This record gives sequence, C-alpha cells and structure tokens, in this order.
Amino acid sequence: MKKILITGGAGFIGSHVVRRFVNTYPDYHIVNLDKLTYAGNLANLKDVEGKPNYQFVKGDIVDAEFIDALFEQEGFDAVIHLAAESHVDRSIVSPLDFVMTNVVGTVNLLNAARKNWKGNYSSKRFYHVSTDEVYGTLGETGMFTEDTPYDPHSPYSASKASSDHFVRAYHDTYGIDVVISNCSNNYGSYHFPEKLIPLAINNIKNNKPVPVYGKGENVRDWLWVEDHARAIDVIFHNAAAGTTYNIGGHNEWKNIDLIRLLCRIMDQKLGREPGTSEQLITFVTDRAGHDLRYAIDSSKLQKELGWTPSLQFEEGLEKTVDWYLTNEEWLNDVTSGHYQAYYEEQYANR
Ligand code: NAD
Ligand code: TYD
Repeated sequence: MKKILITGGAGFIGSHVVRRFVNTYPDYHIVNLDKLTYAGNLANLKDVEGKPNYQFVKGDIVDAEFIDALFEQEGFDAVIHLAAESHVDRSIVSPLDFVMTNVVGTVNLLNAARKNWKGNYSSKRFYHVSTDEVYGTLGETGMFTEDTPYDPHSPYSASKASSDHFVRAYHDTYGIDVVISNCSNNYGSYHFPEKLIPLAINNIKNNKPVPVYGKGENVRDWLWVEDHARAIDVIFHNAAAGTTYNIGGHNEWKNIDLIRLLCRIMDQKLGREPGTSEQLITFVTDRAGHDLRYAIDSSKLQKELGWTPSLQFEEGLEKTVDWYLTNEEWLNDVTSGHYQAYYEEQYANR
C-alpha cells in the first residue's frame, strides 16, 4: 500500500488527478489536502468521496506546523503537489498571496518531506506540477523546450518559477527525489469560470458580454485536462529522479479564434441562429504584462515515456460545452456569492 499526498485536489486539475489515481490504483491510499479557497470545491470529487482508498484533509500548505504534523502522522510515500493560487489576473491584484501559497507553501512541503523521509529517498518521490508560463513569452515562432531559460512576467508565473527553483534546489542540495512537469493551458470539466474558456461559456449561456483582452491576438496551447492527468500519472511512475518534462497539446489558438469557435458551438448547442453569440464578443483593456504566445514542445515526454494527447481540440471543446450545459447546478453554485464581487472588480473598468 502506497500512501500519496495530493495537494490542491479539490481544484480543477487536482480533482482530475485525484479521480484518476483513486480509480486506477485501488492499492494506493490517496490523501487530498486542500484549503478549499474560492477555487477549491469538494463537489468536484463527489464520485470518489466514498471510495475506501480516498481521504480528504482540509488544511493550508502555508501552515508549516500543520504540514509537519500531517507528514508525521500519515507517513506519505510520495507527494503530488498541485495546490496553488493559479489565476494571473488575481496575481496582478494580490501578488503576496501567490508568494505565500506558491513559494512558501511549496517550501513547507519540501521541508516536511525532507524531515519525514530522513535522507531515505529510495522509494519516495516529490512531484511538482508547474506551468509553461515560467518560460515567459514566445514571439511568432519557436516552442518552449525543457531547456528554455526561465523568464516569468506575471506575479503568478514568477511565483511558480520560484517554486520550481526550490524543488530543484532540494534535489541538488539534499538529494530528494523530485520530478517537475511544466504544462500548457488546460481546459475541460470543473474549470473555475474565472479562466477564459469556462468564463466565456458561462457568459455566452447568460447572454453577457464575452471580454477579450486587447485584440485577442494572444496565443495559448490548449490541452484537455484528462490528458494532463494521464501525463502526470505516466511521469510520476516512470520519470528518473531530478527530471523535468514539458506537457502540451500541440494545439495553438489565438484567443479570438478560439472564442469564435466557442460561439459557433454554443449557437448550435443552444439552438441559436448562427452568428448570434459572436455578437457578445467585447474587446476590453489588455492584461498588464500579457504574454503574447505559449507553445510547448512535448517531444521529450512523447519519445521517452510514450505519452500523446488523446483528444482533438474541436471534439474536446464540444465535450466541455456539453459538460457545462449539463452541470448547470455546479456552474450556478460556483458563480454565486463571491464570484459576482470578483467579476465586478475585474471587469467593471476594463
Ligand atoms: P485551481 O486554482 O483550480 O486549484 C487550486 C487548488 O489549490 C484549489 O483547490 C485551492 O483550494 C487549493 N489551494 C490554494 N491555496 C492553497 C493552500 N494555501 N493550501 C492548500 N490548498 C490550497 O488550479 P488548477 O488550474 O487546478 O492548477 C493546479 C496546478 O496546476 C497549479 O499548481 C497550477 O500552477 C498548475 N497548472 C495549471 C494550468 C492550468 O491551465 N490551469 C496549467 C499548467 C499548470
Ligand atoms: P487564462 O484562462 O486566464 O489563462 P492564462 O492567463 O494562464 O493563459 O487566459 C487565457 C488567455 O485568454 C490569456 O491570453 C488571457 C485571455 N483572457 C481574455 O481575453 N479574457 C478573459 O476574460 C480572460 C479571463 C482571459
């Protein structure tokens, strides 16, 4: 029986990782540690909450004493660390929250692992889930490889870059078995509607303006979240200690083209006249420090560990729209209360 700590398991990607590990590995005991911030939601895990190999613990990774005690009590064999503040726009408003959770929280987990594993790392592993945003921005051409120098531009990406450096430093200094993966933008079910795709789905559904930053020329490389969870599974089980893998969809879209495709899908699903939803597109003030283009070269992961993305984007986006339209209660729940205040603050003056 392996005991694995997954942090941030009540969030978007974390819930898919928890679900995959609980269902695929009945002989692993999965402990999901999550603070349940605005982005954490136990409704994301309803289908696994009764499973005997799953346990939820509410807690804050910034609280070092609590983290130490949890490691002492549970004796984890491995950590898959996803807990983070994850939204660039929020990082522009409150950078220190990102330093606390993403940097201090990660170092607290590394310290607890180091103390608890006492130099015996042979069957232990610390997996840090990171982002391609640490590499900064690309121009019209090129792709991020594992050797691209770090050049973060937002407080979010700076905090993730910092945490990546700490994870590598703990490998080089103390010998902890660490693995890092840097993934491109994910999309799919349970995605909190502050991020582009679910926000646009929700607004189109409710006939509200769809805010596109700047001219909509920025490019993102979109990957279906379940393909990310599968990549994490493959890397967790097969990567050599101290290695890094880039994960991406080979699926670049300009924001404006993506939003137009989404509008076409929504028109069809909602039985609207073609072209109706596109009228909701509203160009708004650009994000400060907005990275122009992300594109991931994931050939190392494909060649060494045999992972490839499974879903074409059009199919994945349609599946995602279907999920949001079917799970109306989930969407209504997460967009009530504090979400309205957040939305007002972010978009009122753009
Ligand atoms: P999310 O915001 O949906 O979820 C984050 C989770 O972490 C939430 O459940 C939240 O409650 C929890 N959390 C936040 N602060 C915490 C704290 N102090 N202690 C304990 N739990 C805390 O994020 P996501 O989109 O699922 O991203 C998960 C991870 O993947 C992050 O590390 C992010 O940097 C990385 N990542 C995300 C993307 C993407 O497209 N969303 C792409 C690449 C990498
Ligand atoms: P987002 O989903 O916030 O992810 P990230 O900033 O981590 O890539 O944004 C994706 C792209 O969409 C990014 O270029 C910013 C843009 N965007 C908008 O145009 N309008 C919006 O309302 C949001 C949230 C994002």
